[in-house]
Amino acid sequence: MSLSSGICAQLYDFARTHNGKNISTTLNGVDVRIIQRHEDADHILRLNATNYRKNMAWFRLVFGPSRFSEDGHAWQIRRDLTQSYFNKFDREKTFQLARHYATQAVAALTEAGSTSDRIDDAILRTMTASVLVDNFFNIKLNTTGIDLSVLATFMEAGSDYSFVPQGKTTDLYRSRLQQLPELRRKVLHQLGYFRSADLPHSPLLQDLLAADQRNTDRVVLEHELMTFMAAGAETSAATMSWACYLLALYPDIQDQLRGLSQQFWHSPQPSWKSLSSVTPLARFISEALRLFPPTPIVARYAIEEDQLSDNPVQAGQNIMVSFIGIQHDKRLRDDPWLPNITDTRAQVASGDTMAFSIGPRVCGGKQFALLEMITFLSIFLTRARFELTSDEPPAYLWKSQMLRLGGQPVRVTEL
Ligand code: HEM
Repeated sequence: MSLSSGICAQLYDFARTHNGKNISTTLNGVDVRIIQRHEDADHILRLNATNYRKNMAWFRLVFGPSRFSEDGHAWQIRRDLTQSYFNKFDREKTFQLARHYATQAVAALTEAGSTSDRIDDAILRTMTASVLVDNFFNIKLNTTGIDLSVLATFMEAGSDYSFVPQGKTTDLYRSRLQQLPELRRKVLHQLGYFRSADLPHSPLLQDLLAADQRNTDRVVLEHELMTFMAAGAETSAATMSWACYLLALYPDIQDQLRGLSQQFWHSPQPSWKSLSSVTPLARFISEALRLFPPTPIVARYAIEEDQLSDNPVQAGQNIMVSFIGIQHDKRLRDDPWLPNITDTRAQVASGDTMAFSIGPRVCGGKQFALLEMITFLSIFLTRARFELTSDEPPAYLWKSQMLRLGGQPVRVTEL
């Protein structure tokens, strides 16, 4: 297990043992305040966000500076470069792309299901990365020569540094850092494909390349693409993997959602506009994100002292906002450990709000991610059945997003 994988299980333990309370603890030798109260998360991430900088020294070191890791002016420049594309994407085009790649993925899952009793996360990763690259760059992923497993291995190796505060990284993990350059070189080389002269027209890619060539605040195309792929493809793939697990764990919910999906796909003109009104599908995705948030924490440090609902915060304090803790708060729902696709009371810490974070650093691709995942789900349910192959409780694998160690114990069979 990587240095950091154990922390996911610890976050679930904290949610059980200190439900609704913040905790001071030590992670990987680092003092951290774990935030489990949504009121304090709102204060840190939104209301007083200027006092809480991103704590991603490790991420910058491994992946290079990008929109994801930077703060202040360097972040603003990168955000302005890309966000309009993430806001204004063509919903119906994305719906068709998600439909197409989900159909391919579910065929691969059922084929694999004839010999395996575990979900192969690589199939889901190919699906989400294909939609992302096709949607924003008009490029078919399978023509790029990009090997997603290299990026995934790099993410896993780099993720060991997730819980290391500013300045301590090299002291604590110097020996491990030496393993990364070769993987990094391979990933950068593969992403160099996006510099080819004869690629289809993509305004987003043109803007990124122009910023790279002008050397605007050290924007490097490959760094932005690397985090774009990690933020935009790995997260949605992880969520779909947990969604398949939940479908298998709760066959009644699976049957109910399948009925709605079949009805939708048999309607005269299936479109995103009509699918978006099938509320239980959206609620299910929200519940998957609530129970198993792919980004279970976000890391910050306090610039100046401050006051939270329970305790003061010192300047320089490491803070981790635990979406696992917040989303399992008993004050907000009757039984936070079970999915509920009908109860809409607990919106404040639902998966479709908290799991994408809140405030100025909210996920840039939230609307895109929700659209594609609801579409994936509707296709999966009309094509396949999901059966649990083991009752063992989840063990976690941390790769900058939370996966299930060994893959989900789910067999996928054709309907
Ligand atoms: C299930 C899917 C997803 C989840 C749960 C998710 C979650 C998150 C979270 C929690 C953050 C904030 C991280 C932090 O503050 O440290 C974030 C940031 C970000 N996400 Fe997502 N994400 C998802 C999908 C996507 C997709 C599909 C895209 C791109 C199309 C995307 C693009 C971004 C970007 C660009 C940021 C950086 C925002 C900024 O700081 O300006 N994400 N995401």
